[in-house]
Amino acid sequence: MKKCLKCGIRTNIYIPQHRLALCPEHYINWFEARTQRTIEEFKMFQKTDRILVAVSGGKDSLSLWNVLVKLGYEADGLHINLGISEYSEISEIKTRNFAQRIGRKLHIVDLGRDFGRTIPQIKENERRPPCSFCGTLKRYYMNLYAREYGYNVLATAHNLDDEVSVLMLNTLSWNIEYLSRQFPVLPEENGFARKVKPFCKMSEKEAAMYAVLAQIDYIEDECPFAEGSTTLHYKKLISQLEEKSPGTKLRFYSEFLSKMYPVIKDRRPKTSINRCKSCGEPTQSEICMICRMRNNLLYGKLQTSTDKADNP
Ligand code: AMP
Ligand code: FES
Ligand code: ZN
Ligand code: ZN
Repeated sequence: MKKCLKCGIRTNIYIPQHRLALCPEHYINWFEARTQRTIEEFKMFQKTDRILVAVSGGKDSLSLWNVLVKLGYEADGLHINLGISEYSEISEIKTRNFAQRIGRKLHIVDLGRDFGRTIPQIKENERRPPCSFCGTLKRYYMNLYAREYGYNVLATAHNLDDEVSVLMLNTLSWNIEYLSRQFPVLPEENGFARKVKPFCKMSEKEAAMYAVLAQIDYIEDECPFAEGSTTLHYKKLISQLEEKSPGTKLRFYSEFLSKMYPVIKDRRPKTSINRCKSCGEPTQSEICMICRMRNNLLYGKLQTSTDKADNP
């Protein structure tokens, strides 16, 4: 057993990539302070900003909401019920309970009610994998709610493992367009809210540890459609690298941000944004992706896999 670096009591909490042993109380302090440092490092937001946190009911997003509120930020929640049977029912209950616990406002989108179809129902008519059109829908509602309710910042709980797996995927195919957008803060533009990822430097294990120590009741199951996804495959590979050489993940990501991102950031394509003729949301085409999906569902047409999502 090691000793807590701060108070010296015996502990089995050890973070290899930082060579840091901490007791539960000091781990919580460390995790929250590290999030605050990330917020400052990337100038994500300030105490005067109104933040909408996208909360799935999982460990990362509930922890993020908890940390932001504890740090004194004005942060409300948005939960999107995807209609994936028990998984979505439990996710919503956990999110509602948590909102009550911290006494913050929670907005709820119910896809079945608000979009007219749940993810499993849309899946019947779609060629794309569920995670792809589900991501498009989630981004659409996040952006819509941020604008409708006057939040100028939209926070998601993407963690280091999420960022590194996407970074690896995009690097292996040298997708400069996607790489040029992979930064933990994207400014407000074209009617889309500022997007921030305050957990971008916290690993999945660190966030899970925080959730347990802060006694957050989260849904442990993963979305049933996530199984077999490419990002999950990359996450496993990266974990193997990390195990052999602790710190690899954080180095790969941090060095990308400091050395590579400045070189490619201006390669971000400039797009002209219109208002969707049907719903008024920002889009690159005449009719936004969501309205096209809705029409296709109504008229039973299949979506083509070449359609691009509107939201960055
Ligand atoms: P994912 O795309 O599932 O990896 O999720 C990325 C981020 O989106 C999470 O960290 C959450 O902040 C947010 N998110 C995911 N699912 C939901 C949901 N059902 N409702 C609201 N936010 C979500
Ligand atoms: Fe969207 Fe799984 S399909 S979270
Ligand atoms: Zn201690
Ligand atoms: Zn539209």
